[in-house]
Amino acid sequence: MRADLEREARRLRGRLVDQLVDDGLPLDPGWRAAFEDVPRHAFLPWLFEQLTNGRWTLITEDDPEWLRTVYRNRVAVTQLDGDESRRESARAGPVVGTPTCSSSMPAIMAIMLDALDVRTGDSVLEIGAGTGYNAALMCHRLGEHRVTTIDVDPAIAARAAKHLAACGFHPTCAAADGARGYPANAPYDRVLGTCSVSTIPLAWVEQTAPGGHIVTTLNRQIGAGLIKLVPDGERHATGRVLAEDGRFMPLRAHRGPNVNDLVDRVRGAQAPQRPTDLTATRLLRSAEQFEFFAGLMLPHVIAWSGAHGDTWLAHPDGSWACYSRHSVREGGPRELWSIAEAAHEQWRALDQPPRERFGLTVGPEGQEFWLDRPDSPHRWPLD
Ligand SMILES: C[S@@+](CC[C@H](N)C(=O)[O-])C[C@H]1O[C@@H](n2cnc3c(N)ncnc32)[C@H](O)[C@@H]1O
Repeated sequence: MRADLEREARRLRGRLVDQLVDDGLPLDPGWRAAFEDVPRHAFLPWLFEQLTNGRWTLITEDDPEWLRTVYRNRVAVTQLDGDESRRESARAGPVVGTPTCSSSMPAIMAIMLDALDVRTGDSVLEIGAGTGYNAALMCHRLGEHRVTTIDVDPAIAARAAKHLAACGFHPTCAAADGARGYPANAPYDRVLGTCSVSTIPLAWVEQTAPGGHIVTTLNRQIGAGLIKLVPDGERHATGRVLAEDGRFMPLRAHRGPNVNDLVDRVRGAQAPQRPTDLTATRLLRSAEQFEFFAGLMLPHVIAWSGAHGDTWLAHPDGSWACYSRHSVREGGPRELWSIAEAAHEQWRALDQPPRERFGLTVGPEGQEFWLDRPDSPHRWPLD
């Protein structure tokens, strides 16, 4: 039975890898072999699947669909609301919750591993051990002694270590707050953040060898993105926003404003309606090149769809805007839609730069995005 399962799992892994390659994802021979050999199912003995009503249903090894579900090119959620007991509750029926741990979508893993640009012998720190699957891919490629993976949640870190060991990998796998990096094994040649950050923790810059790489995602609802930085060994790092978009669950201390709080605060807000040429799609769809630039002008702004097909924006300072079919209402201390419209004008005047024309400089004095060159006059703070 077990042999049949392993054979079927290998077949499904091969199919997943073919799909990643067909989709144009970067998989050099080393990462291809890792994805083909490392059994994702060993890290996902259960997972939560979201139903159309937003609730989560539990899928376990006993479910006939389990293996096929594990080997889809999809994120696999393994914890809700940081609450380990939710798994037990879900045995009785679907539950509500916000994901706090998952095995990331294989496509985005492939993109980030490629961006990491590892060489044989490199040491890597991964922030966000999660299920341990990504760490296992890195152990396969670099050797277990070159990999350190940490998770803020001790239960998650312990489970990741157990599943890694079951696959024959024994990297350093510890419970620790990734905002501080992990000094014990520093310096690292590569640092990979698999939970998103609002700003780049300076500890990551300090713990990466000069000329090494830091790859992570930004935790912003508008204008999130994948970032690759190269530290200079003097507490500074410079790098680029990557062309691919990537959105991850946030590092716990870097969670953004709570959308439910903002929804409650703007409920019933009134303001006169006016026409607008800027559409919600243009502003918020990441495939629209403007979205990244808009995020530079609208930090900490949250967007959501209202009950009547309208689109809301809100900021914790009380500013809000509600867009519906070429018209908008806005109120609070700042007019968010007007800011977005001005940003759109500026973006056009700058020749509509896509996300990969932006870069980032990080240092003890602050963090700043720039356009095209680190000394560009066009700069925006990241805070
Ligand atoms: C998307 S998952 C990581 C996926 C993982 N690399 C894998 O292969 O399964 C994000 C993880 O980041 C962890 N995390 C959140 N905040 C953290 C922090 N401050 N330090 C370390 N880990 C953190 C969460 O507990 C969660 O397990």
